[in-house]
Amino acid sequence: GINFCRLRRRLGMAYLLFTCLVLHVLSICSASPPNFVLLFADDLGFGDLGCYGHPSSLTPNLDRLAAGGLRFTDFYCTSPVCSPSRASLLTGRYQTRSGIFPGVFYPGSIGGLPLNETTIAEVLKPLGYATAAVGKWHLGYGANGTFLPTQQGFDQYLGIPYSHDQVSVSKP
Ligand SMILES: *[C@@H]1O[C@H](CO)[C@@H](O)[C@H](O)[C@H]1NC(C)=O
Ligand SMILES: *[C@@H]1O[C@H](CO)[C@@H](O)[C@H](O)[C@H]1NC(C)=O
Repeated sequence: GINFCRLRRRLGMAYLLFTCLVLHVLSICSASPPNFVLLFADDLGFGDLGCYGHPSSLTPNLDRLAAGGLRFTDFYCTSPVCSPSRASLLTGRYQTRSGIFPGVFYPGSIGGLPLNETTIAEVLKPLGYATAAVGKWHLGYGANGTFLPTQQGFDQYLGIPYSHDQVSVSKP
């Protein structure tokens, strides 16, 4: 709700006021902007979670999030593998546009998500948000970390650049 208002700020005060008025009437335009926590999991089927009916795997924290929010039953990803799907999730663009397809990055890969791509962090930061990426990045490392999250709008990054099962292989 409020973030929609805030993103619209660029389009002019009149439109902003109109939008906020409409949203305020709908009671979803609050005084402080919401926090965003985007969880993106590898190798997790929807049926693996308790809130989607798994009979024995226990996921109480995710179940609690689902109980207090919206639980979607339809979700489309732009790619079945990691790097392309992350590129499109963070930029809102098909991976074919940023060139991060069809495969994933490996420790020996060069390049990364092009720095001129606009990530959600780069959209939110000018609106006053503090931004952080935690966990697997998988959108490139680059010489001296050129393609790490801190070059793409994230204030902080604590994580690994590749999958947990990808290891650097030293050349003979
Ligand atoms: C980024 O730069 C490349 C190379 O100049 C260009 O092809 C691409 O369209 C640019 N992407 C964006 C989102 O501006
Ligand atoms: C990486 O950083 C080191 C140390 O600052 C520097 O000597 C080297 O030239 C850098 N490499 C590239 C590709 O920027």
